[in-house]
Amino acid sequence: MKLIVNDIEHEVNVESNMPLLWVLRDELDIKGPKYGCGIAMCGACTVHIDGNPVRSCSYPISAVSGKVTTIEGLGTPKALHAVQEAWIEHQVAQCGYCQSGQIMSAAALISNNPSPSNDDIDAAMSGNLCRCGTYPRIKQAIRTAIAKQNEQSLSPDLIKAILGDVE
Ligand code: FES
Ligand code: FES
Repeated sequence: MKLIVNDIEHEVNVESNMPLLWVLRDELDIKGPKYGCGIAMCGACTVHIDGNPVRSCSYPISAVSGKVTTIEGLGTPKALHAVQEAWIEHQVAQCGYCQSGQIMSAAALISNNPSPSNDDIDAAMSGNLCRCGTYPRIKQAIRTAIAKQNEQSLSPDLIKAILGDVE
């Protein structure tokens, strides 16, 4: 079957009930998504399908009907995603094991809701567990990423259109 991951099309020959996480890690050698619980309870395996976060450990490959994005496809080393930049600025990671899942959930959140409330953030991130307790830095980094994203969306042309020519 065909699978598009990070904008690259792959042909994979696997059982239809194989979880997406297994396909990514074992068949395609994409190791960003992590195996934590295997039962959709920890978020370590989070990837996007058409921009929405899913737990790839519990998502059969046969159910994948859109484009898959893993943390490897979220940004590039020269053009990091706003969430990745914010994570570095706040030095969020400790052991790092949960962090690709945290980042993917945060990126989906701010893409689908550019002005989330604290409750929205808590709801979106509640399924991503961190044994190292990096939650306070995660929240700070999400706030920074939202500010960065809003800055990026205000292009000079858009600012000019809103404000007109201000001398
Ligand atoms: S490994 Fe998928 S949610 Fe824990
Ligand atoms: S940084 Fe160690 S589990 Fe989250």
